[in-house]
Amino acid sequence: MSPIEPSNSYKQKTENKIIETRPKLESKSKLKAENLNQAENQAEITLRPNSLDEYIGQERLKKILMIGISAALKRGDSSSMGHILLYGPPGLGKTTCAFLLSKLIGSQAHVFSAPSLDKPKDIVGVLMSLQKDDILFIDEIHRLNKITEELLYPPMEDYCLDLSSGNGASTRITRLPLPKFILVGATTKLGNISAPLRDRFTHIQKMEFYQEADLITIANRTAKILNFDLSPKASQMIASRSRGTPRITNRLCRLVRDFSAHKNTNLASPEVVEEAFTLFQIDECGLENTDREILKTLIENYNGGPAGLETLAATIGEDARTLEDFYEPFLMQLGFLERTSKGRKATTKAYQYLGYS
Ligand SMILES: Nc1ncnc2c1ncn2[C@@H]1O[C@H](COP(=O)(O)OP(=O)(O)O)[C@@H](O)[C@H]1O
Ligand SMILES: [Mg+2]
Repeated sequence: MSPIEPSNSYKQKTENKIIETRPKLESKSKLKAENLNQAENQAEITLRPNSLDEYIGQERLKKILMIGISAALKRGDSSSMGHILLYGPPGLGKTTCAFLLSKLIGSQAHVFSAPSLDKPKDIVGVLMSLQKDDILFIDEIHRLNKITEELLYPPMEDYCLDLSSGNGASTRITRLPLPKFILVGATTKLGNISAPLRDRFTHIQKMEFYQEADLITIANRTAKILNFDLSPKASQMIASRSRGTPRITNRLCRLVRDFSAHKNTNLASPEVVEEAFTLFQIDECGLENTDREILKTLIENYNGGPAGLETLAATIGEDARTLEDFYEPFLMQLGFLERTSKGRKATTKAYQYLGYS
């Protein structure tokens, strides 16, 4: 095996990581359509909670983490709280949680997505740049390749890095000590994490969908940051269409803000919000066109199912992973969709909701 050296591209990758600053709001007014994804990210950073008080809901998770942190601080060693694996659908606050953890501990968060660490030298470079108690956040950790994953085992367990050099019989392993750090892994697919990796996490925590009351609080905070007014009924309407997900609350708030501006008002009244959601085809459960398309396709093309994920995705022209990670969890939560060993099925409740029976 050839020597593993830190990647030169690390600098570039750290520059790409999410930086914990609040960009100025006015920069958003210069958006171009082709920069929409970038704009979404920018808005997300602007709206990201900065303190535990602003991190609404997820009470069980907050309690567990606070107990872990305070016990570790009493021992004078933050990193002794162990590594943390957060799992659940997108937009529920996994990345935010990692940032808040670094704030509470007073260390830095290094944020990466697993596919950006596809070469061994990438992860080696990242590990060697860590300081004591830093948070290493790896998003989509189920997508780490096997070699990178195995390289992570000694750092996670013993805070050291095994670097190999030479070939065949003359292969030598050099053990480098690393500062104690906390790995926070996030995944939408707990089942795709290998047992050896999973077993190296002290905390394995499920992210819960949010209650309407919590989403109302989040909508009100978002409206304040985005500089428009939401009537109480309007906040409730946004919350109940947010699919239990703060990221969606934020997106709906942006849509409503823009629609209100189009109506020459800074106050989003229930009437304005109703009109906006009718235009955007978001129904009272928060279902959008693609959700309805999934259920209708199952009902009309596959007699209610079961239909395989890939088949279903191809029929509606959507990416299978997006379907699985984004659309299905909420349809299942509402009791409209079932995942069976033979494929996806529309439930009786879905038939009723869409007016088939
Ligand atoms: N508990 C929360 N309280 C308030 N806002 C939240 C909370 N969790 C998430 N958000 C909002 O949702 C956005 C997306 O959260 P994020 O942490 O990126 O989700 P994930 O990493 O699970 O996909 C954040 O930028 C933040 O504005
Ligand atoms: Mg995230």
